Amino acid sequence: MSLLDKFDVVEQLMSGLESVGKNPTSVVFDTINSATEAVVEGRTTILAGTNNYLGLTFDQDCISAGVTALRTQGTGTTGSRMANGSYASHIKLETELADFFQCENAMVFSTGYAANLGVLTAVLGKGDAVLLDADAHASLYDGCRMSGADIFRFKHNDTHSLERRLQRLKERASRCLIIVEGMYSVLGDRAPLAEIVELKNRFGASLLVDEAHSLGVFGERGCGVAELDGVLDEVDFIVGTFSKSLGAMGGFCASRHDVLGLFRYVSRPFMFTASPSPAVMATTREALAQLRNRPGLRDALWSNANQLYSGLQKLGFELGPEISPVVAVRCKDRESALFNWDKLLEAGVYVNMMLPPATPGGASFLRCSISAAHTQEQINTIIEKFAGL
Ligand SMILES: Cc1ncc(COP(=O)(O)O)c(C=O)c1O
Repeated sequence: MSLLDKFDVVEQLMSGLESVGKNPTSVVFDTINSATEAVVEGRTTILAGTNNYLGLTFDQDCISAGVTALRTQGTGTTGSRMANGSYASHIKLETELADFFQCENAMVFSTGYAANLGVLTAVLGKGDAVLLDADAHASLYDGCRMSGADIFRFKHNDTHSLERRLQRLKERASRCLIIVEGMYSVLGDRAPLAEIVELKNRFGASLLVDEAHSLGVFGERGCGVAELDGVLDEVDFIVGTFSKSLGAMGGFCASRHDVLGLFRYVSRPFMFTASPSPAVMATTREALAQLRNRPGLRDALWSNANQLYSGLQKLGFELGPEISPVVAVRCKDRESALFNWDKLLEAGVYVNMMLPPATPGGASFLRCSISAAHTQEQINTIIEKFAGL
């Protein structure tokens, strides 16, 4: 046995993916034409799996802001904020995020993944308990594991399961953190946040909500599911990413707790990595301003989401439980998911392939994520190509 033998399994898995057609993890977008269109293997392809919910990646004002920052502040920060100091744009974005979420504190991280690791390792330690939704993102799991806290999973979106877990924790419940996502990324279903907040308050626990997929998508002002459900000021920590609706890169935490300011001195995923580049801060700040000032983007997104969901439903596909910008089409099995994914790509539609173990219930899905930038014609083409499967 050698150290590297474990990679035999990975190799087998990858060649298994290629048995039906193209390996979904090896797609290359040769040219990106717009937020919703690219060229893949010489074919013009509709992008229906990008998380580019507001379609801002090609917004001219975002691009101009990035270009100006590149020219005036350089290509990168070349170090962490602890060691090399902050750029004014890091601080400005943190102020703007705190204002947006109507809380006192916000902190920017280099990615959404780092935000989850950074917040969870700061908040939690040995002896603390975490109640984690079973379908939570890998970055939430990893952050919990890194923290050394005791991890207890509850059934996905099941408040009875959460309540039983809280009861079993007894006096430890008041030192426990409940972790959920606003909207879940595979099926597009939402956490029942009002009920979860009621439980959190009853047991004296704390609550972290990851709004990675709901920022800019839900709520009157686009804050996410916590705003939609009227519990924004009840959530202890809101985390999220700039890499989806804001079309950039980076992550954040917003909180009404002043201790967030102290995370800067204890959070290793914040302290020991380079801070986001000036261009990334500039495009993110402009995108956040657009998210706030252009509610029409959200209207366009929802109109497209409705069109796709009802179109695919009429064709008889089994979809996620609620209409959302994530439309997941359940496949019979892994092989049919691989086969149909490949067929869609050949027909000029790129969607995400979702296979177990990264999926709820071990099922296989073709996952579409819809953008405000899709045209009605593009949505009709996506529906037409699904009809041809
Ligand atoms: C729920 C959730 N949290 C965090 C992340 C990580 O964000 P990032 O890609 O910006 O690191 C993702 C990314 O897919 C996500 O879906």
